[in-house]
Amino acid sequence: MINPRIITIDGPAGAGKSTLAKEIAKRFGYVHLDSGALYRAIGYGCKLAGVNLKNREAVLKVAENLKIELLPDGRVLLNGKDVTEKIRTPEGGLLASQVAQFPEVREIVVKLLRKIAEGKKIVIDGRDAGTYIFPNAELKIYLTASPEERARRRYEELKKKGFNVSYEQVLKEVIERDRQDENRPFAPLRVPERAFVIDTTGKSLKEVLSEVEKLIDP
Ligand code: DC
Repeated sequence: MINPRIITIDGPAGAGKSTLAKEIAKRFGYVHLDSGALYRAIGYGCKLAGVNLKNREAVLKVAENLKIELLPDGRVLLNGKDVTEKIRTPEGGLLASQVAQFPEVREIVVKLLRKIAEGKKIVIDGRDAGTYIFPNAELKIYLTASPEERARRRYEELKKKGFNVSYEQVLKEVIERDRQDENRPFAPLRVPERAFVIDTTGKSLKEVLSEVEKLIDP
Protein backbone atom coordinates (compact mmCIF):
# COMPACT_ATOMS: atom_id res chain seq x y z
CA MET A 1 0.00 0.00 0.00
CA ILE A 2 1.18 3.51 -0.75
CA ASN A 3 0.23 7.08 0.05
CA PRO A 4 0.46 8.65 -3.43
CA ARG A 5 0.45 12.38 -4.15
CA ILE A 6 -0.73 11.76 -7.69
CA ILE A 7 -3.14 9.04 -8.80
CA THR A 8 -3.81 8.69 -12.52
CA ILE A 9 -6.79 6.88 -14.00
CA ASP A 10 -6.70 6.26 -17.74
CA GLY A 11 -8.88 4.22 -20.04
CA PRO A 12 -11.40 4.40 -22.88
CA ALA A 13 -14.68 6.34 -22.90
CA GLY A 14 -17.28 4.96 -20.51
CA ALA A 15 -14.92 2.74 -18.49
CA GLY A 16 -16.03 4.50 -15.27
CA LYS A 17 -12.94 6.67 -14.76
CA SER A 18 -14.61 9.86 -13.57
CA THR A 19 -17.00 8.03 -11.23
CA LEU A 20 -14.05 6.22 -9.65
CA ALA A 21 -11.93 9.40 -9.51
CA LYS A 22 -14.72 11.29 -7.73
CA GLU A 23 -15.09 8.50 -5.15
CA ILE A 24 -11.34 8.35 -4.50
CA ALA A 25 -11.27 12.15 -4.12
CA LYS A 26 -14.08 12.02 -1.58
CA ARG A 27 -12.79 9.09 0.44
CA PHE A 28 -9.12 9.94 0.55
CA GLY A 29 -9.16 13.75 0.38
CA TYR A 30 -7.82 14.29 -3.13
CA VAL A 31 -8.59 17.06 -5.63
CA HIS A 32 -10.22 15.55 -8.72
CA LEU A 33 -8.96 16.77 -12.09
CA ASP A 34 -11.16 15.82 -15.04
CA SER A 35 -8.79 16.26 -17.98
CA GLY A 36 -11.48 15.34 -20.54
CA ALA A 37 -13.50 18.37 -19.41
CA LEU A 38 -10.75 20.66 -20.71
CA TYR A 39 -10.77 19.03 -24.17
CA ARG A 40 -14.56 19.15 -24.13
CA ALA A 41 -14.50 22.87 -23.27
CA ILE A 42 -12.07 23.56 -26.12
CA GLY A 43 -14.14 21.48 -28.58
CA TYR A 44 -17.27 23.33 -27.51
CA GLY A 45 -15.51 26.70 -27.75
CA CYS A 46 -14.49 25.85 -31.33
CA LYS A 47 -18.05 24.89 -32.17
CA LEU A 48 -19.36 28.19 -30.80
CA ALA A 49 -16.73 30.00 -32.88
CA GLY A 50 -17.90 28.14 -35.99
CA VAL A 51 -14.48 26.64 -36.61
CA ASN A 52 -13.85 23.64 -38.85
CA LEU A 53 -12.27 21.11 -36.46
CA LYS A 54 -9.97 19.79 -39.17
CA ASN A 55 -8.43 23.25 -39.54
CA ARG A 56 -5.50 23.08 -37.15
CA GLU A 57 -4.58 26.79 -37.32
CA ALA A 58 -8.15 27.90 -36.66
CA VAL A 59 -8.60 25.44 -33.77
CA LEU A 60 -5.34 26.60 -32.20
CA LYS A 61 -6.27 30.23 -32.48
CA VAL A 62 -9.51 29.60 -30.61
CA ALA A 63 -7.86 27.28 -28.04
CA GLU A 64 -5.15 29.80 -27.20
CA ASN A 65 -7.69 32.51 -26.51
CA LEU A 66 -10.17 30.59 -24.40
CA LYS A 67 -10.23 31.03 -20.65
CA ILE A 68 -11.05 27.69 -19.06
CA GLU A 69 -11.50 27.16 -15.33
CA LEU A 70 -11.97 23.89 -13.45
CA LEU A 71 -13.69 24.73 -10.18
CA PRO A 72 -13.10 22.63 -7.04
CA ASP A 73 -16.74 21.43 -7.13
CA GLY A 74 -16.23 19.99 -10.64
CA ARG A 75 -17.92 22.77 -12.61
CA VAL A 76 -16.26 23.99 -15.80
CA LEU A 77 -16.25 27.64 -16.83
CA LEU A 78 -15.57 28.76 -20.38
CA ASN A 79 -14.81 32.49 -20.60
CA GLY A 80 -16.54 32.84 -17.24
CA LYS A 81 -19.72 30.95 -18.29
CA ASP A 82 -20.76 27.63 -16.73
CA VAL A 83 -20.66 25.02 -19.53
CA THR A 84 -20.58 21.90 -17.31
CA GLU A 85 -23.80 20.41 -18.65
CA LYS A 86 -23.39 21.64 -22.23
CA ILE A 87 -20.09 19.82 -22.76
CA ARG A 88 -21.23 16.48 -21.29
CA THR A 89 -23.05 15.30 -24.41
CA PRO A 90 -22.11 12.59 -26.95
CA GLU A 91 -21.37 15.37 -29.45
CA GLY A 92 -19.19 17.07 -26.82
CA GLY A 93 -17.16 13.85 -26.51
CA LEU A 94 -16.56 13.60 -30.23
CA LEU A 95 -15.65 17.30 -30.54
CA ALA A 96 -13.20 16.85 -27.63
CA SER A 97 -11.64 13.78 -29.20
CA GLN A 98 -11.14 15.69 -32.46
CA VAL A 99 -9.40 18.75 -30.96
CA ALA A 100 -7.35 16.42 -28.73
CA GLN A 101 -5.61 15.14 -31.88
CA PHE A 102 -3.54 18.34 -32.14
CA PRO A 103 -0.29 18.29 -30.09
CA GLU A 104 -0.48 22.08 -29.54
CA VAL A 105 -3.95 21.75 -28.01
CA ARG A 106 -2.66 18.96 -25.78
CA GLU A 107 0.21 21.19 -24.64
CA ILE A 108 -2.23 23.93 -23.57
CA VAL A 109 -4.25 21.41 -21.55
CA VAL A 110 -1.25 19.61 -20.06
CA LYS A 111 0.33 22.89 -18.89
CA LEU A 112 -2.89 23.94 -17.22
CA LEU A 113 -3.32 20.56 -15.49
CA ARG A 114 0.27 20.47 -14.22
CA LYS A 115 -0.15 23.98 -12.86
CA ILE A 116 -3.40 23.17 -11.04
CA ALA A 117 -1.76 20.03 -9.59
CA GLU A 118 1.21 21.86 -8.04
CA GLY A 119 1.51 21.13 -4.33
CA LYS A 120 -1.81 19.26 -4.14
CA LYS A 121 -2.85 15.65 -3.75
CA ILE A 122 -4.69 14.96 -6.98
CA VAL A 123 -6.54 12.16 -8.71
CA ILE A 124 -6.72 12.77 -12.45
CA ASP A 125 -8.69 10.86 -15.07
CA GLY A 126 -8.05 10.93 -18.80
CA ARG A 127 -6.35 9.16 -21.70
CA ASP A 128 -2.70 10.10 -21.16
CA ALA A 129 -2.58 11.02 -17.47
CA GLY A 130 -0.19 8.20 -16.52
CA THR A 131 1.71 7.97 -19.81
CA TYR A 132 2.31 11.62 -20.57
CA ILE A 133 0.96 14.22 -18.11
CA PHE A 134 2.26 12.64 -14.91
CA PRO A 135 4.62 9.78 -15.88
CA ASN A 136 6.05 9.76 -12.33
CA ALA A 137 2.67 9.39 -10.60
CA GLU A 138 2.99 7.04 -7.65
CA LEU A 139 -0.23 5.17 -8.42
CA LYS A 140 -1.50 4.48 -11.94
CA ILE A 141 -4.77 2.76 -12.72
CA TYR A 142 -6.05 1.69 -16.14
CA LEU A 143 -9.79 1.07 -16.24
CA THR A 144 -11.40 -0.72 -19.11
CA ALA A 145 -14.59 -2.60 -20.03
CA SER A 146 -16.05 -4.13 -23.17
CA PRO A 147 -17.33 -1.60 -25.76
CA GLU A 148 -20.88 -2.98 -25.34
CA GLU A 149 -20.81 -2.50 -21.57
CA ARG A 150 -19.36 0.99 -21.87
CA ALA A 151 -21.99 1.93 -24.46
CA ARG A 152 -24.75 0.52 -22.24
CA ARG A 153 -23.58 2.66 -19.28
CA ARG A 154 -23.37 5.79 -21.40
CA TYR A 155 -26.76 5.04 -22.94
CA GLU A 156 -28.41 4.70 -19.52
CA GLU A 157 -26.73 7.85 -18.24
CA LEU A 158 -27.87 9.84 -21.30
CA LYS A 159 -31.42 8.49 -21.11
CA LYS A 160 -31.58 9.55 -17.46
CA LYS A 161 -30.53 13.05 -18.47
CA GLY A 162 -33.32 13.13 -21.05
CA PHE A 163 -31.30 12.69 -24.28
CA ASN A 164 -33.11 11.03 -27.14
CA VAL A 165 -30.46 8.51 -28.25
CA SER A 166 -30.43 4.86 -29.30
CA TYR A 167 -28.09 2.23 -27.88
CA GLU A 168 -26.75 1.51 -31.38
CA GLN A 169 -25.88 5.16 -31.89
CA VAL A 170 -24.04 5.35 -28.55
CA LEU A 171 -22.13 2.12 -29.32
CA LYS A 172 -21.08 3.53 -32.67
CA GLU A 173 -19.82 6.71 -30.99
CA VAL A 174 -17.93 4.74 -28.32
CA ILE A 175 -16.16 2.69 -31.02
CA GLU A 176 -15.39 5.83 -33.05
CA ARG A 177 -13.91 7.58 -30.02
CA ASP A 178 -11.79 4.52 -29.12
CA ARG A 179 -10.44 4.53 -32.67
CA GLN A 180 -9.61 8.26 -32.53
CA ASP A 181 -8.09 8.13 -29.04
CA GLU A 182 -5.96 5.02 -29.67
CA ASN A 183 -4.71 6.00 -33.10
CA ARG A 184 -3.67 9.61 -32.73
CA PRO A 185 0.08 9.97 -33.23
CA PHE A 186 0.69 12.17 -30.17
CA ALA A 187 0.07 10.78 -26.63
CA PRO A 188 -2.44 8.11 -27.71
CA LEU A 189 -4.49 6.06 -25.27
CA ARG A 190 -2.23 3.28 -23.91
CA VAL A 191 -1.88 1.23 -20.75
CA PRO A 192 0.81 3.13 -18.77
CA GLU A 193 3.85 1.29 -17.41
CA ARG A 194 3.33 0.14 -13.79
CA ALA A 195 -0.44 0.62 -14.13
CA PHE A 196 -2.92 -1.62 -12.32
CA VAL A 197 -5.37 -2.77 -14.97
CA ILE A 198 -8.95 -3.23 -13.82
CA ASP A 199 -11.60 -4.59 -16.18
CA THR A 200 -14.90 -3.22 -14.88
CA THR A 201 -17.14 -5.32 -17.17
CA GLY A 202 -19.92 -6.72 -14.98
CA LYS A 203 -18.55 -5.05 -11.83
CA SER A 204 -20.28 -2.52 -9.62
CA LEU A 205 -18.59 0.70 -8.47
CA LYS A 206 -18.40 -0.85 -4.99
CA GLU A 207 -16.47 -3.86 -6.31
CA VAL A 208 -14.05 -1.66 -8.26
CA LEU A 209 -13.56 0.61 -5.25
CA SER A 210 -12.72 -2.30 -2.98
CA GLU A 211 -9.97 -3.34 -5.45
CA VAL A 212 -8.58 0.21 -5.50
CA GLU A 213 -8.78 0.67 -1.73
CA LYS A 214 -6.35 -2.18 -1.30
CA LEU A 215 -3.76 -0.08 -3.17
CA ILE A 216 -4.05 3.16 -1.18
CA ASP A 217 -2.84 3.79 2.34
CA PRO A 218 -5.73 5.61 4.08
O1 DC B 1 -13.04 11.54 -20.65
P1 DC B 1 -13.94 12.28 -21.64
O2 DC B 1 -14.97 11.40 -22.28
O3 DC B 1 -14.54 13.51 -21.04
O4 DC B 1 -12.92 12.77 -22.79
C1 DC B 1 -13.37 13.39 -23.98
C2 DC B 1 -12.32 13.26 -25.06
O5 DC B 1 -11.20 14.10 -24.75
C3 DC B 1 -11.73 11.87 -25.28
O6 DC B 1 -12.47 11.12 -26.20
C4 DC B 1 -10.34 12.16 -25.79
C5 DC B 1 -9.99 13.48 -25.16
N1 DC B 1 -9.09 13.33 -24.01
C6 DC B 1 -7.76 13.16 -24.27
O7 DC B 1 -7.37 13.09 -25.43
N2 DC B 1 -6.86 13.09 -23.24
C7 DC B 1 -7.28 13.15 -21.97
N3 DC B 1 -6.37 13.10 -20.98
C8 DC B 1 -8.66 13.28 -21.68
C9 DC B 1 -9.55 13.35 -22.73
